[in-house]
Amino acid sequence: IDELLTEGVAGKRIFVRADLNVPLDGGTITDDGRIRAVLPTVKALADAGARVVVASHLGRPKGAPDAAFSLAPAAARMGELLGTDVAFATDTVGDSARSTVAGLTDGQVAVIENLRFNAGETAKDDAERGAFADQLAELADVYVGDGFGAVHRKHASVFDLPARLPHAAGHLIATEVGVLKKLTEDVKRPYVVALGGSKVSDKLAVIDQLLGKADRLLIGGGMVFTFLKAKGYEVGASLLQEDQIPVVQEYIERARKNGVELVLPVDVVTSTEFPDLKTKAPGHPHTVAADAIPADQLGLDIGPETRKLYASKLADAATVFWNGPMGVFEHPDYAEGTKAVAQALLDSPAFTVVGGGDSAAAVRLLGFDENAFGHISTGGGASLEYLEGKTLPGLAALED
Ligand code: 3PG
Repeated sequence: IDELLTEGVAGKRIFVRADLNVPLDGGTITDDGRIRAVLPTVKALADAGARVVVASHLGRPKGAPDAAFSLAPAAARMGELLGTDVAFATDTVGDSARSTVAGLTDGQVAVIENLRFNAGETAKDDAERGAFADQLAELADVYVGDGFGAVHRKHASVFDLPARLPHAAGHLIATEVGVLKKLTEDVKRPYVVALGGSKVSDKLAVIDQLLGKADRLLIGGGMVFTFLKAKGYEVGASLLQEDQIPVVQEYIERARKNGVELVLPVDVVTSTEFPDLKTKAPGHPHTVAADAIPADQLGLDIGPETRKLYASKLADAATVFWNGPMGVFEHPDYAEGTKAVAQALLDSPAFTVVGGGDSAAAVRLLGFDENAFGHISTGGGASLEYLEGKTLPGLAALED
């Protein structure tokens, strides 16, 4: 983007592909981190006199307009944060988008409606995606990719559109890639990774990579129970992916062979029922040893001994990557594990990267100062796939 700004963007229509996929409660944004993350790019372009057209997906609508997934609240929030009026087009490539963009003056910003209201955005068929990208290309003179959270998606606005316009990477993508490179090239050791989240199946590829890269792997979240079962423990009514047990057993074996310390909880917080996240009514938490989970209990967080253990395993790290909450942090009875890992990261002198929408939101919702962390990535799947060493369509499209 610096080169683009040097060349001059005044009067040009610049399409900024952002990731404004923010969590919403009704029409209220509960975490605006992703909107704030793209502001440096939007501001730099607007200040230089560009006519900025911001586009994004939100949620997973089914290729047609759906009010529940409108970007209107995100556009309003962007206006508040920029301290200026941000125009909003109520469609993506229709009359509203065309007239909104045509009405922009130099330095003005518009947000167009959710890209995924058009089936062409996510189509598997190249021609269908290409046709939608052709329509998007009519709205702009230059493309700036800055939606890091979506660069792993081979979607029209991420992959096909940059091929149709002069293109550049925005500040956010440049920062994210710069940070993640530190984890893949010449990482400072000990390199400790804390992985949480509910399903082990979402993390298989990254665990596979990390078994050849990390010095220590701390496991939390719902996927703990597939690991415990793979070690032969009973896990009661906890979340379990039976079909992944053989894979996990192979990982445990490979960690041993490679000298990677694979650390599992020694105790867990359980209850007979999943907590009510809306009312936050008190749960009925118990702490039990990880090898003695009663048949009627389900595990919802790592226990107090595990929190201490994980904090000690993070204390001497030089580099830490954390992805995924340690428990059901949205409920106060099961938030302590996630809090303990966040606190351990803050206490450690290590270079820390927090990746993943959920862990980033957890850090903010639990009241931690996000600026105190080395880097909070806006990408969940994107940061994991980067660490897996995959070619990400949205980055590849910007590289040529
Ligand atoms: C995310 O939330 O990880 C990104 O916005 C991508 O969203 P998606 O998984 O719906 O493609």
